[in-house]
Amino acid sequence: MSFRRTVAFAVTLAFSAAAAAQGAAQPTAAPAPAASAAAPAAAAAVAAAPLKPGDAAAGQGKAAVCGACHGMDGNSSDAQYPKLAGQNEQYIARQLGSFKSSARMNPIMLGMASALSEQDMHDVGAYFASKQSLPGVADDKLVKTGETLYRQGDAARGIPACMACHGPDGRGNPGAAYPQLAGQWADYVQRTLKVWHDGTTWGSDDHAQIMPTIAKRLTDADIAALATYVEGLHAAVDGAAPAAAR
Ligand code: HEC
Ligand code: HEC
Repeated sequence: MSFRRTVAFAVTLAFSAAAAAQGAAQPTAAPAPAASAAAPAAAAAVAAAPLKPGDAAAGQGKAAVCGACHGMDGNSSDAQYPKLAGQNEQYIARQLGSFKSSARMNPIMLGMASALSEQDMHDVGAYFASKQSLPGVADDKLVKTGETLYRQGDAARGIPACMACHGPDGRGNPGAAYPQLAGQWADYVQRTLKVWHDGTTWGSDDHAQIMPTIAKRLTDADIAALATYVEGLHAAVDGAAPAAAR
């Protein structure tokens, strides 16, 4: 399954990053002149990918059961449940697949994800992606440390800038299934970085090794500062980030 998605992304990204942001609809944009020299690759992708891009309208009904914890519009009110509003479809679908296979272990989400087909995962992903995440608040005392790490990393300690993958505004990168962090509950972010630091992974592929490798280099103080910074990220960079990023 992940191989299939990877192929689809490669095709999509070659056309446009903006198209990628809308999910994986774009394989249809590749005209794939039948039986041309390029056909083997294209045909393989098509044959392996009967999956349709997520349908937000179909996803709404399927997401009703999720609302009890994650909020009907994906803005959970309890910080132990991550916000899903505005999260990208690819990331949501990938995580649901990982819960279902227990690559990412969580007893509650194992139960929830087991009931979903791969198509359902994309549909609920598209539904939550269409919602707007509500900004949280950052702790003033920690924000400067968090911001510096987020934007610059710390080369001396081998910590990359979070911004490189999660975006200057924390919106993530849908084409690469890098999650949105902006507005996410600090408690959840802190807990997640901590379990990675302590050796948990969400699978064995390369994608799943990225964050544990980074988190091992973070101290508790770094984690606390980053967590509160990303929760407040909407407000913190509103308007200023694009200019600052140049
Ligand atoms: C009973 C509460 C509960 C319900 C209902 C529930 N979830 Fe979750 N969900 C959780 C918890 C707790 C976590 C955090 C797991 C962890 O810490 O790894 C989570 C995590 C997730 C994540 C990962 C988010 C991230 O940022 O990595 C996704 C995606 C998700 N849930 C989707 C769903 C969907 C879709 C449904 C409905 C089909 C659903 N959940 C229903 C409790 C719930
Ligand atoms: C090279 C790209 C890359 C960099 C740099 C990076 N991340 Fe990530 N991040 C990822 C990927 C990929 C995932 C999803 C992990 C998975 O699916 O197993 C992720 C997931 C996360 C999550 C979980 C989000 C959720 O909703 O559960 C947090 C929190 C996070 N990253 C924080 C950070 C912080 C803080 C930094 C900087 C210290 C950082 N990341 C740097 C790629 C990156």
